[in-house]
Amino acid sequence: MSLLAKLKNKKQNATSPPSVQCEKKTENNGEYISNENNSPKEEKKDSIKSKDKNEELKKQLHKKVLREMKKDSIERIIERIDEMAVEIIKEDDSLLGLVDRKKIVAELVNNLIGYGPINPLLLDPEVTEIMVNGPSMVYAERKGKLELTDIKFQDNDHVMHIIEKIVAPLGRRIDESSPMVDARLPDGSRVNAIIPPLALNGPTITIRKFSKDPFTIEHLISFGTLTREMAIFLEACVKAKLNIFISGGTGSGKTTTLNVLSSFIPNDERIITIEDAAELQLWQDHVVSLESRPPNIEGKGSITIRDLVRNSLRMRPERIVVGEVRGGEALDMLQAMNTGHDGSLATGHSNSPRDMISRLETMVLMAGMELPVKAIREQIGSAIDLIVQQSRLKDGSRKITNITEVQGLEGDVIVLQDIFVFKQRGVDQDGKIMGKLVPTGIRPKFYETLTTSGITIPTSVFLEEEDWNL
Ligand SMILES: Nc1ncnc2c1ncn2[C@@H]1O[C@H](COP(=O)(O)OP(=O)(O)O)[C@@H](O)[C@H]1O
Ligand SMILES: [Mg+2]
Repeated sequence: MSLLAKLKNKKQNATSPPSVQCEKKTENNGEYISNENNSPKEEKKDSIKSKDKNEELKKQLHKKVLREMKKDSIERIIERIDEMAVEIIKEDDSLLGLVDRKKIVAELVNNLIGYGPINPLLLDPEVTEIMVNGPSMVYAERKGKLELTDIKFQDNDHVMHIIEKIVAPLGRRIDESSPMVDARLPDGSRVNAIIPPLALNGPTITIRKFSKDPFTIEHLISFGTLTREMAIFLEACVKAKLNIFISGGTGSGKTTTLNVLSSFIPNDERIITIEDAAELQLWQDHVVSLESRPPNIEGKGSITIRDLVRNSLRMRPERIVVGEVRGGEALDMLQAMNTGHDGSLATGHSNSPRDMISRLETMVLMAGMELPVKAIREQIGSAIDLIVQQSRLKDGSRKITNITEVQGLEGDVIVLQDIFVFKQRGVDQDGKIMGKLVPTGIRPKFYETLTTSGITIPTSVFLEEEDWNL
């Protein structure tokens, strides 16, 4: 089977487990359930059925509310929400008698008013990020573009109240003695809040929304983040257990790409993921997810990414996937990669593949071992096989600007070789960046390793396009 076919096949396989579950549900729904003869088994079936129906009503009501939100204010919608539920039940009589309408309506109203003025943004699936810079400046990101909204809070206290609402259920607090806090919304969205006197604009909230349907490789190809050839190449590299570092700035899409690359890991491998806040969503069966822990109010009890990396080595991992390498854990990662833990994936913050290498050197020094620079470079050169550089361009698009092979140490220098690069041609009238992703024409040195591990990449993937004219 060609890699391309595999790529497509994998996508189908990846989505097959949930769809199997869906089928089961519909079978259950279609089944006739007698109300007489209520054996415990029948009762259980009954309660499953009513749970499904409640979910169904919630989904339909949610959709309706989203539609109405385009024309009406939240306050007006809340007044009418019960009526809307009644309408849905009238239209869909399979729900009749099986749903707890009052409960569903109450849940949804709570969702709608839960986080005050930013609720509409939280409910809007198009919004990916929300930034509150004090009470009268709220930004939202849609389709990669940041825009100022007309949403306003009443005053600083109003924003503080919402922050407290977010952090209180997690047993955290925010006040002058602890003016910064990381938290999570019940749906998994990541929240950071920082307040005066540290934040001069007033209480500031940054929310990265949790995406229920994470992007797949096909999405990234369709966004132009990478080409199909690059995707084929990266899939082969992940399958061949190369150690890959994804490098880029904040919001450049590193975690998203990490998730997509991790999806190429075969289902029979034991994967351990390590993150500050669990964002990765893997489809494989054998995944153990670990999350670091910040210190408590007394400043104690923190568990760092480094602690988790070290612990994971005792958990018989076949793949270690680290959300973001920032400090001393770099040394442990490199050592693991050099001692048989191949196929590890991680991201790091930097502006170019070369910059990533020098940052890794600094991070290794942060581990506190007095290693000579040459020894560190040797570790880096032999551990890391590939750097995938990602950027958020000025027009909001995300691109993999370099796929670079780390060839190893020559003298004192780590040799890097680009395999694919983004060549910018200019900017069009709308500010959209024009350019093309192209192979450099050079085949990576590890091409042989790929072939010996039974993974073949068509050589055409590396061929420079003949008609490429700058
Ligand atoms: N390839 C992409 N194209 C468009 N948007 C993307 C892409 N990758 C990520 N995003 C969006 O960009 C935001 C940041 O992505 P994320 O992967 O969390 O970045 P990072 O980990 O680099 O901070 C998210 O809202 C995500 O939906
Ligand atoms: Mg990230």
